[in-house]
Amino acid sequence: MSLPIMHSVAAMVFAATYFTCTSAVFHTQRQAVHKKLQYLLEPPVYAEVTARRGENVTLPCVLQTKPPRYKVKWTKLEPLHRGVENIVLITNGQAHKGYGLLGPRVSLRRAHPLDASLRISNLELEDDSKYRCELINGIVDESVTLTLRIEGIVFPYQSPNGRYKLNYQEAKEACQAQDATLATYKQLYRAWTEGLDWCNAGWLIDGTVHYPILHPRAHCGGETLLPGIRSYGPKDKTQDYFDAFCFTSITAGYVFFIGGHLNFTEALRVCREKGAELARVGQLYSAWRFRGLDRCDGGWLYDGSVRFPITTPRERCGGLSEPGVRNFGFPEKTQGLYGAYCYR
Ligand SMILES: *[C@@H]1O[C@H](CO)[C@@H](O)[C@H](O)[C@H]1NC(C)=O
Ligand SMILES: *[C@@H]1O[C@H](CO)[C@@H](O)[C@H](O)[C@H]1NC(C)=O
Repeated sequence: MSLPIMHSVAAMVFAATYFTCTSAVFHTQRQAVHKKLQYLLEPPVYAEVTARRGENVTLPCVLQTKPPRYKVKWTKLEPLHRGVENIVLITNGQAHKGYGLLGPRVSLRRAHPLDASLRISNLELEDDSKYRCELINGIVDESVTLTLRIEGIVFPYQSPNGRYKLNYQEAKEACQAQDATLATYKQLYRAWTEGLDWCNAGWLIDGTVHYPILHPRAHCGGETLLPGIRSYGPKDKTQDYFDAFCFTSITAGYVFFIGGHLNFTEALRVCREKGAELARVGQLYSAWRFRGLDRCDGGWLYDGSVRFPITTPRERCGGLSEPGVRNFGFPEKTQGLYGAYCYR
């Protein structure tokens, strides 16, 4: 199916709107069990574990009975690396060892002799994934799968050079520079259920390109399609140019505003004088989402854009009826019209 070309957003102030949808139904993903488990206990309702960046988390995996000799192997299932298993930890019931990038941050909970639950400390955005706990006992091999979901927020990101100027690698770097990662499809989907409606297509971490539409309209893929995630499918990572969907979570530091009629250079300076830096876009979204930052003043950010966060929409603050981080784009850096959002 081909999609009509989308028209650029002409409005000066545009926003990724979110609103809370209390009736939204989130299905707990339970593993479909085809084989009756002999040793491992099927995870109860918490087959999905939710936590924020920086927190410690436990992925439960408990044995029903303990065979005389066995191993438990924990693997991270996403992202997929062409048949190569991403082992996180292996235990033989006595000793255990961590492997790979996650190795230094994982351990076993060992609350009791049947406990093979995995602890991950100081969660990072990339830890959002499915994990498998596998029991190997001679020829018997059984496993349970759990999902670790990092609670966070998805925001669209456009290059300072304009719309659709990022190839895949540039999109990835653009998100990283904003204290974020490229979003997964599941993160974008969830953001859509929470109210994200955005008319520009952006890269996701798997190299596909999508955009989320809640209110179908002529200029965003047509009025006749149902609300949903519009998909361009996989695109050429070096030749194709789009925007990015970035994902971030709570931050250790906080964002504060300094008022004034500052140009970009002055904004950099006033933050430094407070022992801070101009905030990254992800940090501003995080402050808005997790700390309820609400400020009706445009302020410079580190990337040279000017934005402001609104949690309680009001007429004189841009007029939009939904909460969101409003965006003035990338004004001339000499313009002394805005304040500064600093992060410390
Ligand atoms: C997380 O675990 C580490 C050690 O694994 C500990 O130092 C830290 O205090 C814990 N953090 C929280 C928030 O509990
Ligand atoms: C910003 O303002 C300062 C002080 O008013 C001025 O010295 C500086 O040249 C300005 N910088 C830019 C890039 O406009």
